[in-house]
Amino acid sequence: MSSPDNGNGKREQWKSRWGLILAMAGNAIGLGNFLRFPVQAASNGGGAFMIPYFVSLALLGIPLMWIEWGIGRYGGTLGHGTAPGMFDAMWKSRGAKYVGILGVFLPLVVLVYYIFICSWTLAFSVFSGLGMYPLPGEGVSALSTQAYLAPYRTYLYDFIGAAGSGRFFSPTPVAYFFFIITLGFGIWILAKGVSAGIEVLNKIAIPALFAIGFILFIRVLTLASPTGTDTAGAEKGLAFLWEPDFSGLTSAKVWLAAAGQVFFTLSLGMGAIMTYASYVKKDEDIALDGLTTAGLNEFAEVIFGSTIAITSAVIFFGVDGARLIADDGAFSLGFISMPAIFSHMRLGQFFGFIWFLLLFFAGITSVVALAQPAVAFFEDEFGWSRRKSVTILGVFFFISAHLPMLVKGSLDELDFWAATLGLVVLSLFEVIIFFWIFGSKKAWEEMTRGAHIKIPRVFYYIMKYVTPAILIVILAAWSYEQLPAVLAKTDLGVWAARIFLALVLLVHVIAVRAAWKKRRRQ
Ligand code: TRP
Repeated sequence: MSSPDNGNGKREQWKSRWGLILAMAGNAIGLGNFLRFPVQAASNGGGAFMIPYFVSLALLGIPLMWIEWGIGRYGGTLGHGTAPGMFDAMWKSRGAKYVGILGVFLPLVVLVYYIFICSWTLAFSVFSGLGMYPLPGEGVSALSTQAYLAPYRTYLYDFIGAAGSGRFFSPTPVAYFFFIITLGFGIWILAKGVSAGIEVLNKIAIPALFAIGFILFIRVLTLASPTGTDTAGAEKGLAFLWEPDFSGLTSAKVWLAAAGQVFFTLSLGMGAIMTYASYVKKDEDIALDGLTTAGLNEFAEVIFGSTIAITSAVIFFGVDGARLIADDGAFSLGFISMPAIFSHMRLGQFFGFIWFLLLFFAGITSVVALAQPAVAFFEDEFGWSRRKSVTILGVFFFISAHLPMLVKGSLDELDFWAATLGLVVLSLFEVIIFFWIFGSKKAWEEMTRGAHIKIPRVFYYIMKYVTPAILIVILAAWSYEQLPAVLAKTDLGVWAARIFLALVLLVHVIAVRAAWKKRRRQ
């Protein structure tokens, strides 16, 4: 059981500042940077997406990043690594700890499907290395984008068993094998702990990711258009994203997509940043660290993520082709269009191998970040050992991942509640509890203590008024725009996902009650 006055004795800490920053970067840099961002940007008009994206970054992303670091460090000094304990300490209300449940529940739910997707990247890295891809259709020029991509789409769909119109997927044994390997690896890292496991993993994986990103970035910029297709080389691909286009400014849909992407890519509104921040030293310069984390993530996202996936697609398939691919869903650019492009290239086997390896590094470092809140909750609030906490989680993930793996429609449902709506709700509670209940002066002091950089004062007002106001607008708009359609869905997968969500939530409520009961007795 944690003692409320001092967590130093028993809570873990990051070993080095660079380790902490790389771990936080690994937390934020994930599949979202390389798969989700390109799709969002391309299907929301390329350049038209970028201005709302950067505005959201300044008014939501960076402020919330600092807020989560601030709440996290504060909670850590009191022995709490997760939102139930943190909110309870800042807001003297019986309800606070229950609201905080979101900070454990949301990342857990995301992981239920994220681990499986992460395992595809490992599998596809191996497939690329072994040259197992179908060869490009003869004469690219003669084929339409869709025809060219068809064999690669079939390849992905066969792998996860998505072909056919039934209600179930039937993943191949190979897919299942890679899922087990990925889950096992993640659990192994978690079992080693914060500094010996998570920090070490990120110290290796994140520099490697940047090195690979750089190689692919250069490769794409020197990519020539295959003759005969509607393309004009790298310039056109870059222009698609970087030519300012103000038409997005008046579209609510583009704004919501941009804000949603900023949340997702920075890992905000889930509790994961707060949990990692709870392991910092008391006077860590979190103002600078938070900014550095966001900066590294944005570099990976708008420089590497966008250039690699979008520019190469535009070079190969033209702007219209790239849009078409993006509209196809979250996995089309990364898992279908990229392999298609690589198999047309010299040394394509190698480039395919490192592309998917990059995705795997991005994914696995986010997997451990998404799992750590639950580990921290067990350790801090129940006093369980790391081994026990991690084992129980491993069993939970192994069983529950079968839902999105086998039942069609469940993944999207889980994703909507946890990674679209849920994170806005949690973010709103974070800002309100920190700035309005705990108190804006104290909150500002918490965020800036020990800082060598000065956060511009204007952010005080942004955090207090602008950020919560925007969050309320987003919440209202999403509820109005998407909720009716989501609620109207009734297929098997959707209902299975809802029942699953309700059960997991119930377990969280029971766990929090039990933990606080135990604390009162002590
Ligand atoms: N930021 C991650 C990505 O870009 C995804 C993510 C969202 C995440 N919330 C998280 C990762 C919380 C770790 C923890 O893919």
